Amino acid sequence: MNLNQALELINKNIRTLKEYYLKPENIPVKLNQNENPLDWPQNIKNDVAEFVRKRPWNRYPNFVPDELKKALAGFSSLSPDNIIAGNGSNEMLLDLLISLTEPKEPVIVCQPTFTLYQILIEGLGRKALIEYANDDLTYNVEHIIDACSKNPESLLIVCSPNNPTGSVLTENQIREILDKHKGFFLLDQAYVEFGGYSAIPLLQEYPNLIITRTLSKAFRGAGLRLGYMLGTAEIIREINKIKLPYNINFFSEYVAIVALSHKKELEETITLIQPQRQKLYEFLKTLPLDNVYPSSANFICFRTELKDSLFQYLKENGILIRDVSSYPMLENCLRISVGSEEENELLMQKLTQFFKNRK
Ligand SMILES: Cc1ncc(COP(=O)(O)O)c(C=O)c1O
Repeated sequence: MNLNQALELINKNIRTLKEYYLKPENIPVKLNQNENPLDWPQNIKNDVAEFVRKRPWNRYPNFVPDELKKALAGFSSLSPDNIIAGNGSNEMLLDLLISLTEPKEPVIVCQPTFTLYQILIEGLGRKALIEYANDDLTYNVEHIIDACSKNPESLLIVCSPNNPTGSVLTENQIREILDKHKGFFLLDQAYVEFGGYSAIPLLQEYPNLIITRTLSKAFRGAGLRLGYMLGTAEIIREINKIKLPYNINFFSEYVAIVALSHKKELEETITLIQPQRQKLYEFLKTLPLDNVYPSSANFICFRTELKDSLFQYLKENGILIRDVSSYPMLENCLRISVGSEEENELLMQKLTQFFKNRK
């Protein structure tokens, strides 16, 4: 068999997918991945290092991460039965798409949004039914409800706050959708600690609602790979059947428990990031940009015809941001994660310089 014959044997849905790839760049100020700018306090790291040194590495992690589930349950004001934890919320999205979709039913996706949804949908051989946002990039709830009523068994995926636009669904809008939709509603709330309505209270009323969340953003834990889903216990029990055994390594499990026990200390970055976001948003509004979109997350999206030269200028000056212009509706758009106060100051200084140089 030659290589081409072997390639031909790969599942066609995978073969036709576009690669999801982020080139590694060694740039001092990283504002391209919506990460938290702050690392963890040294005392917490020392505690974790001590645990990792002592814990036997030849043994599997717990089959059910009970303690972690308890900690997540406490944080979410739910019971451990309402939770599945995994290797980032990305893993949870895959489990949910496997469990809640069928090849014959399209999955409703609201573009522009997180790229991974469509990759997973298409990779699993499902069809994405795309609903577009309003011109100002807010959600078009009327169109979403219309798509739901025409596809009552479809899984609906909405991200709120949305990556990369920062827009949100309000409580009333979520209720309105849930009151009408007969299928499952997957609400990705990876950024909800930074703003927007947290839909956890609605889980009691709507068994078709599933929420995904993560420790990667507000909890400063992107390197841990720890995400979780929340839903009605009976639904969670079914989805759990497809979760890989031992999907969380003992390090991440332990660190996540520690993180949740230092909730206040770690969440305090939120009170640092929200004012920085506001400051950056107001500053961006003073620049000759085409649009700056309000955001409830830890990033801001804006549009400028100068996107290539601006992106390059910032990169040459040690600041990496994200070009999101290939997303649907986001022609000429860039996205900047809200960094630390120092990073934000440097960014604003460089942006001022860029526009001054053009005069
Ligand atoms: C909207 C959204 N959902 C999920 C994720 C994945 O998060 P995790 O690090 O928990 O896999 C991201 C990551 O950037 C995201 O933007």
